[in-house]
Amino acid sequence: MDLIRRVLDGASLSKTEWLSLICDEEAYPDIALHELASSIRDKVYGRRVFLRALVEFTSYCRNDCYYCGLRRSNGLAERYRLTPDEILSACSDGYAAGFRTFVLQGGEDAYWRDDRLVPLVRMIKQSCPEAAITLSVGERSRESYRALREAGADRYLLRHETADSVHYSLLHPADMSFGNRIGCLRTLKELGYQTGAGMMIGSPHSSAETLASDMVFLQSLKPEMVGIGPFIPHRDTPFGSERMGSVELTLRIISLVRIALPSALIPSTTALATASSDGQIAGLDAGANVIMPNITPVRERKKYLLYDGKKITGEEDGYNLAGIMERLSLAGYEGTLERGDFISVAASQHSW
Ligand code: 5AD
Repeated sequence: MDLIRRVLDGASLSKTEWLSLICDEEAYPDIALHELASSIRDKVYGRRVFLRALVEFTSYCRNDCYYCGLRRSNGLAERYRLTPDEILSACSDGYAAGFRTFVLQGGEDAYWRDDRLVPLVRMIKQSCPEAAITLSVGERSRESYRALREAGADRYLLRHETADSVHYSLLHPADMSFGNRIGCLRTLKELGYQTGAGMMIGSPHSSAETLASDMVFLQSLKPEMVGIGPFIPHRDTPFGSERMGSVELTLRIISLVRIALPSALIPSTTALATASSDGQIAGLDAGANVIMPNITPVRERKKYLLYDGKKITGEEDGYNLAGIMERLSLAGYEGTLERGDFISVAASQHSW
């Protein structure tokens, strides 16, 4: 476990070293990584799992990512856009239920220019003063990120998708650039957002090497949040016949990310819950500590389809809080509605 020891002592590993941590299952068995990652999570955050209320507020997207069901070329996708009133009332209801983080997630929808989104952020902050707002609306200009931050947005999710630029170009059309994506992430950090990066596991053309690049990148960016889920094909995309990503590998990478970034906020994602019936708890057991119950009005939830088979059973339902808390507690966790901001702890301050 010498490589692990070095990561825990705060060393940045090379790509080759990450490659052996990813691939050498004999030296680093899944179970050992999950246990270590869990114990690190417990030391930083305890057994608490932070609940974030998710509002999928627009399914329009100008981008054409080959993997995503919301891509603009998917003429079969049913598009919707919540009105500001609908978004506000979803948040107010969520606030009354106790939620203290709202995640506004959507495609890159030209309608939501700054002159619409900035006032919306302000209004949510006004009616939900103690809540954190997380935005997840893709690539925008520095000025836009700044205006949104000044309006009160606290956090921003923008997965880097892959840290290998060649791989990036195989997942996206030529009008999307890896450099711009990474630039956006650095800008978000500079502006003081708690910033979330992340990647799909097992996306087409991915490999242990691309994952090793992801680990090197995450160790250098040090995002406060990291979203990791298996790739799941969507039938009406160019990757519709590709294979789903492995749940086991996803869990292994979650553990490695927890070990590399002990105080990161790591969601156990909907994609993981969709790929495997006990995926959400398995994600927590591998070191994750966030879940994102959905408070999007149910009639639209079925239209926000990034991949096939999205779980819309009720278990993910933000309106069924008691059920969620019960399931977490049966698995040995304590669901909490508090803001759950990032805790900054240098690895060296702890003896893992
Ligand atoms: N499978 C899994 N995750 C996906 N995403 C988009 N499409 C898929 C898919 N087919 C993820 C991307 C994106 C986030 C919103 O959802 O990582 O950043």
